[in-house]
Amino acid sequence: MKLPTTHYPLPTIPEHIAIIMDGNRRWAREHNLPVLEGHRRVTDVILEPLIEYAAKKGVKFMTFWAWSTENWKRDEKEVMGIMKLFKNVITRRLGKLHEKGVKVKVIGDISKFDPAIREGLENVVEKTKNNTTITVIFALNYGGRDEIVRAANKAIKADDCVLTTESFSKFLDTAGIPDPEIIVRTGGEQRLSGFLPWQSEYSELYFPSWYMPEFTEEKLDEVLVEYATRKRRFGK
Ligand code: FPP
Repeated sequence: MKLPTTHYPLPTIPEHIAIIMDGNRRWAREHNLPVLEGHRRVTDVILEPLIEYAAKKGVKFMTFWAWSTENWKRDEKEVMGIMKLFKNVITRRLGKLHEKGVKVKVIGDISKFDPAIREGLENVVEKTKNNTTITVIFALNYGGRDEIVRAANKAIKADDCVLTTESFSKFLDTAGIPDPEIIVRTGGEQRLSGFLPWQSEYSELYFPSWYMPEFTEEKLDEVLVEYATRKRRFGK
């Protein structure tokens, strides 16, 4: 039975929600706006209240896939526009998250970004490292296979005798972060496209048709209610 979207206490709240942010350009086109406006709505209107509301509901970790290893293949004008948005997020928006006690982490190979973005991210991660309200992880230049190969190379260098699933996890970008209980991909596509392949082993998957620029508090309630209806068996 589906529970209604409401504000009453739910029996289970996921500790970690991971989000594949999709549908930004479709949202913009449907509103007769340039495609960058879809991305801008996410950074300037959606993210902060969503993170605050998730923290209020008891969510401890939220991962947002903001840029994939494949996204560089997009049209040059869009890529440049998004890089400008990233800089804006780093200089304006992440400071606000710090004031609210948010710890920021980054996964993915950020060496590919220009130094202003890379250093800006490193500074925010350092500045927010002792915050405890909620941990927000931005996946930037992230690809699941790329993460696993980088982890394998680190493991080889560390010469860590015989690897176990636990010891290998420590070489991943997500070391120390619990696996997501639920992965949400907005925009209706029903695939993970290389998002957290190692960490999603037992993640519940949810593919709402609405777009990332529509991810309001009400939609987070919808995700929480959906999660509360799932029966998790872990192979038992
Ligand atoms: C997916 O929608 C969106 C992206 C690939 C870019 C997302 C980036 C941002 C929203 C900026 C966020 C930045 C930070 C650091 C949080 P799409 O463009 O694939 O839309 P479509 O499915 O309609 O084509």
